[in-house]
Amino acid sequence: MRDKAQTLVREMVSNIYLPRPVSIKRVKEETGDIKTFTLGFKDQDKKDRFTFRPGQFVLVSVFNCGEAPISICSSPTFSGGLQLSIKKMGLLTGEIHRCTKGDELGLRGPYGNGFPLEQLYGRDLLLVGGGIGLAPLRSLIEYVISERSEFGQVTVLYGARTAQDLVFKDDLSAWDTEKDVNVITTVYRDSATWKGNIGPLTSLWKKAAISPLNTKAIICGHPAIVSYVVFDLLKMGFGEDDIITTLERHMKCGVGKCGHCSIGSKFTCRHGPVFTYQEIKALPSVL
Ligand SMILES: Cc1cc2nc3c(=O)[nH]c(=O)nc-3n(C[C@H](O)[C@H](O)[C@H](O)COP(=O)(O)OP(=O)(O)OC[C@H]3O[C@@H](n4cnc5c(N)ncnc54)[C@H](O)[C@@H]3O)c2cc1C
Ligand code: FES
Repeated sequence: MRDKAQTLVREMVSNIYLPRPVSIKRVKEETGDIKTFTLGFKDQDKKDRFTFRPGQFVLVSVFNCGEAPISICSSPTFSGGLQLSIKKMGLLTGEIHRCTKGDELGLRGPYGNGFPLEQLYGRDLLLVGGGIGLAPLRSLIEYVISERSEFGQVTVLYGARTAQDLVFKDDLSAWDTEKDVNVITTVYRDSATWKGNIGPLTSLWKKAAISPLNTKAIICGHPAIVSYVVFDLLKMGFGEDDIITTLERHMKCGVGKCGHCSIGSKFTCRHGPVFTYQEIKALPSVL
C-alpha cells in the first residue's frame, strides 16, 4: 500500500529532489572502513527502470540524517542490483555503515556525465585507481569485460595504503584472468603478509609497459595521486584529451542548482564529475 502511494506521488509531482526508496539486499565488508552495499529498488517497474553509465553517481540518503554523493560501482550490465562501495567518513556514511540487509535507504539520480564511452570504444585503456577511487572504475571495468570485443588491451593499476586497505580483492583477481586484461596492485606500506609491490602507483610504470599511442587513461583517487599520475602520463606523451579523471567536490543538490560544487564556470555535479585533463587545465587550481 505504502509502495503504491509512493509511486502515485512520484507520478503526480515531478520533484527532482524526491528520493526513491531502495532496500539493502547484501552488505559486503571490503576493509575495516569500506563496505559494498547491493541495493534493490522497491518501486521499480518496467517503464521506470534505473539506467546509468559507468562514472555516474547517486545521492544516497538516510532519514533524519542527510544525503551524500556516492559513485555507482556496479556495471549497467549487472542485473543483481545497484552496488555502492562506501567509506565510513562522518555522520552519514557512519549511519549507512550501521545498516544491514533489509534496511531502507533513499536514492536520487543517476547524476553527472559519466565516462565518455563513445571515446573509449576501440581504444586500449589504462585505468589507475587509488583507495576507494577504484569504485567508479569498477563500474567501467565490469562494463568493459561484459562488452569485451568493443575495447582493446586493458591495464588496471591499483594502489592502497596497506594490503588491508585494498578493496574488491576478489574482483581484482578475477579481472586479471580475463583475456587482454592486466591487473597490477601496489601498497604504500609494507606488512609481513604482503608479497606484492610496495610503493606509489607511479612506481608501476615499468611493470605495465604502457604506450600512449592508442590508449585512453582514466584516473580516480585522491587529488595528490591524480596529480602525480597525470604529470607522468604527460611526460610519456599522452595527449591532454586522452587523460580523464574524476573531481570530487562537496555537493548538495546534485543537479546544477545550488552552486555548492562549482569550480570556475563548471558545476562538478552536472558538467562532471568526469573531466579530461584538457578541461581541468582551464579550471582554477584543481590539480
Ligand atoms: C561525485 C562523488 C562521488 C563520490 N563517490 C564516493 C564513493 O563511491 N564512495 C565513498 O565512500 N565516497 C564517495 N564520495 C565521497 C562521499 O560523498 C563523502 O565521503 C561523504 O559525503 C561524507 O559524508 P559524511 O556525512 O559521512 O561525512 P561528513 O561528516 O560530511 O564529512 C567527513 C569528512 O569527509 C570529508 N568529505 C565530505 N564530503 C566530501 C567530498 N565530497 N569529497 C571529499 N571529502 C569529503 C569532510 O570534509 C570531512 O573531513 C563521493 C563524492 C563525490 C562528490
Ligand atoms: S551540487 Fe548543487 S550545483 Fe552541484
